[in-house]
Amino acid sequence: MAIITVENLSKQFPGEPRAAVDRASFEVEAGSFVVLIGPSGCGKTTLLKMLNRLYEPTSGRVLMQGRDAQGLPATELRREIGYVIQQTGLFPHMRISQNIAVVPELLGWERARIDTRVGELIDLIGLPREYGRRYPRQLSGGQQQRVGLARALAADPAIMLMDEPFGALDAITRTRLQDELIAIQRRLKKTILFVTHDMEEALRLADKVVVMCEGKIVQYDTPLHIVTNPANEFVEDLVGASDMLRRLSLINATMFVVERQLGGDEPSGEPSIGGDASLRDAISALVGSASDSVGVRDGSGARVGRLTFDDIRRALVPSEGLGARV
Ligand SMILES: Nc1ncnc2c1ncn2[C@@H]1O[C@H](COP(=O)(O)OP(=O)(O)OP(=O)(O)O)[C@@H](O)[C@H]1O
Ligand SMILES: [Mg+2]
Repeated sequence: MAIITVENLSKQFPGEPRAAVDRASFEVEAGSFVVLIGPSGCGKTTLLKMLNRLYEPTSGRVLMQGRDAQGLPATELRREIGYVIQQTGLFPHMRISQNIAVVPELLGWERARIDTRVGELIDLIGLPREYGRRYPRQLSGGQQQRVGLARALAADPAIMLMDEPFGALDAITRTRLQDELIAIQRRLKKTILFVTHDMEEALRLADKVVVMCEGKIVQYDTPLHIVTNPANEFVEDLVGASDMLRRLSLINATMFVVERQLGGDEPSGEPSIGGDASLRDAISALVGSASDSVGVRDGSGARVGRLTFDDIRRALVPSEGLGARV
């Protein structure tokens, strides 16, 4: 069941020529990772802020687990939805532990419970416990981003809204935090809505991607379908789809066969490709069949294993595949 349903949601700021968000509709499955992407000013932050009612919509509605968010008390929404804002938003005059404890304090938890929770979260984000006594300026940018994440997780919300949480980080720190976020999401089974400008980050993290342009949702799809079937030229430019396909056509499919099954049985209906085939050929074979995998043969025609969309998707992410090998 959808944990979040967005129906025809619009936001028109007074005096603005066009709606910041224009009749957006989409559903988010519980436990999934959804990434919103689009150019600056396209309405990503505005859309996110309507989900936790920092902004009230001009029209349309948001359902949280089937209930109209408009009718829910703000405290309940705050408990259910963690929010990591653009630029960490830590309070500079408060210690790290106090920053993490903000929502539990608001919810009126007892002191001992708050202290235990803060300790757990500092462990979870991989900082030494004694950093709890520091102030934000005594931490690096990446450490501050982690604290922002810990703060959003504090009251154990089912849903996390994250607005460019890794925006200001170097590529290595960013990749490490992405990995940690994926691990945390799997372990804690959170539903995450994550905003980014960076298509590589989107492809790496997302179960589904929402592409926005001038307030409108132009495509809502899996990363692989966004790359292989961009809805229009705007999406194509954004993902560099033609460039991506060109790169895919340069890579031999056999390099990415993860489950080696020499002489393995061929599932019926599974298409197959030869030893010289590229990843692009593998995608064509998959798209043109009902199978979720394609068999790969070596030069002599023997089956060496299979490739799935997921395997190809991993190959699309430079840090894990393509860039490193080409
Ligand atoms: N409080 C506000 N009052 C008036 N206009 C606003 C307000 N907040 C946002 N806007 C306008 O709404 C549009 C969408 O802004 P929004 O912040 O949602 O974009 P964004 O996609 O998050 O951009 P970025 O990637 O730069 O963060 C912009 O044209 C912006 O100027
Ligand atoms: Mg924004």
